[in-house]
Amino acid sequence: MKKILIMNGPNLNLLGVREKSIYGDQSFETYFETLKGKYPTLDLHYFQSNSEGNLIDKLHEVGFEFDGVVLNAGAYTHTSVAIGDAIAAINAPVVEVHISNVHQRESFRHHSYLSKNCKGVILGFGLDSYRLAIESLRELQKGV
Ligand code: DQA
Repeated sequence: MKKILIMNGPNLNLLGVREKSIYGDQSFETYFETLKGKYPTLDLHYFQSNSEGNLIDKLHEVGFEFDGVVLNAGAYTHTSVAIGDAIAAINAPVVEVHISNVHQRESFRHHSYLSKNCKGVILGFGLDSYRLAIESLRELQKGV
């Protein structure tokens, strides 16, 4: 069974509570249960941290073992050269995800230090962005 890690960065533990008009009213834990139900043949894992170092450690941990990573690095997307380097360092393909369409928001959200090293980017579809990222990983590695 193919292993995929969904990784959320800072403040995304507050989904369902935080800025609901932008991020919706569902917690990620609830959404993750729905996702697992949709993909019973995948070995889906979830990790969230508010700390940059923990996110990097997790990428190193799974990056030579898992078949793919779906990463929403939150605001670190726009600041972290180190997370960008970690993505470049590992073997597993990483799909960058954003819930909101960051290009419709403040200009500081328009740049990503991660995209260059990711397989692709999916953004603006609400929580469904994560499902679309899983679909893209499945297409990428036929049979995942
Ligand atoms: C986000 C967009 C980021 O700009 C923001 O800092 C987040 C969430 C998104 O999913 O839309 O925390 O990554």
